[in-house]
Amino acid sequence: MNKKPRTITVIGTGYVGLTTAVLFAQAGHKVYALDINQDRLKAIKSGKSFFYEEGIDPLVKDVVDRGTMIPTSSYEESIPNSDVVFSSVGTPDNPDGSSNLSYVFSAAEQASLLMREGSIYVQKSTVPVGTGEKVEQTFKPLGKTIHYVSNPEFLREGTALSDSLFFDRVVVGGPNKNAAQQVIDIYKSVEKHRDTITKKAGIRPRQAANKYITTTLNSSELIKVTANAFLALKISFANSIAKLADEAHADVNDIMDAVGADQRIGRSFLSAGRGYGGGCFPKDVSGLISSANEFGVDLSIMHAAAEVNETMPGYIANKAQVALGSLKGKKVAVLGLAFKAGTSDARKSPGVKLANILSKSEAIVTAYDPQANSEAKEELRSAVTITKSIEEAIIGADAVFVATDWPELKKIDLGETKKVMEGNLFVDCMNVFILEDIEKAGLTYIGVGRNRNIHEAQ
Ligand SMILES: NC(=O)c1ccc[n+]([C@@H]2O[C@H](COP(=O)([O-])OP(=O)(O)OC[C@H]3O[C@@H](n4cnc5c(N)ncnc54)[C@H](O)[C@@H]3O)[C@@H](O)[C@H]2O)c1
Repeated sequence: MNKKPRTITVIGTGYVGLTTAVLFAQAGHKVYALDINQDRLKAIKSGKSFFYEEGIDPLVKDVVDRGTMIPTSSYEESIPNSDVVFSSVGTPDNPDGSSNLSYVFSAAEQASLLMREGSIYVQKSTVPVGTGEKVEQTFKPLGKTIHYVSNPEFLREGTALSDSLFFDRVVVGGPNKNAAQQVIDIYKSVEKHRDTITKKAGIRPRQAANKYITTTLNSSELIKVTANAFLALKISFANSIAKLADEAHADVNDIMDAVGADQRIGRSFLSAGRGYGGGCFPKDVSGLISSANEFGVDLSIMHAAAEVNETMPGYIANKAQVALGSLKGKKVAVLGLAFKAGTSDARKSPGVKLANILSKSEAIVTAYDPQANSEAKEELRSAVTITKSIEEAIIGADAVFVATDWPELKKIDLGETKKVMEGNLFVDCMNVFILEDIEKAGLTYIGVGRNRNIHEAQ
């Protein structure tokens, strides 16, 4: 194991890059956090993350104050000094669903010109299979050796630090074994400091396999998108069964609890609701479909998963419309605009999509999120009113929709909610409430696939 502290540049200080940079710096390495976005750099320089993530701010402040993580926009300052360069720039989707790799190639091109002979370029961004080989080709004319390593990231926003410290697996793929080992050694150094970092961040330790997997470049790239595609598939499968359960007066929660009790299947990601969103699943699914097409493979199963997902916010809005007679002029509150709990990220958020559908149907929409109000603002129709509190959102509402399972929203006082509402429709878009509790509060429950007779003995 290479125990020496390394000099590392992390290109792109987004959700992935900043988490990575801060952990490497906490493990004793000298880290340049390189970004072209001045607003993000400004936040980091002031010792803060630009996004909400549990535990990250104290770690950022600590390494910025100690000068072991250097926020910079200069390739010249950072790259020539670095032994290892990690790239974690964005890979958004193109309008046709394929992956937009312009940031990936631009970062690699700028860095490679300045990289040292024998240094290592690590790709953390999620890229379609074959991208690494293409990036390697761009290094060839430079006449120096740069080792390319694929090291896809699996962290989840909301639990980013915990996922990075207590991980299932770190995957490393590439043609040069020594380079792959050096990347693993950097992660092992983080593992070594895990307890101190966990304490400093104030997060809870958890059980983890902490497995290291080395493989080929193409396999490594496919592992990442395959994992996300499978999780998306599970969610869309649960939602398909939920639609059937609604018609058949069954409860999809009971179904998936029992189905998931089978250890061959497992319960996680079999939760029906308003579908998946965020900066990863939607684009990773469409990117996989598109890259499979390039190899002449039709992943029809993933088309189906994406299509089911697309329908879910509308499916829920439609149920409310049926219950209310019409949405026109009805006052509705959407609680939860982040694409999931624990983050301020509202990219491709189902809660936002739902609020927009309701607003397009001429409902009068108020919306609230504990962390994502400002990030959701630009995605929401201008007619949607963002509020500063749950109370402000639900007062006088005919219907309340809970679209993200934030603890604050799951703990909502149902009796008070009923009191301040004008109507009584309670729409549980995440299937997290107990039907009997809703009824006891005098509210009418709508879930996703939970159309069972509430009074039927169980
Ligand atoms: N967000 C997640 O939960 C998550 C999880 C696993 C994997 N990923 C993948 O990791 C990658 C990064 O995701 P993210 O959510 O952190 O993205 P992000 O958009 O939050 O951050 C990307 C950053 O890269 C910067 N950037 C772009 N081009 C640059 C360049 N040439 N030089 C320097 N900086 C540049 C941008 O300014 C931005 O700050 C994506 O491929 C994503 O699919 C994301």
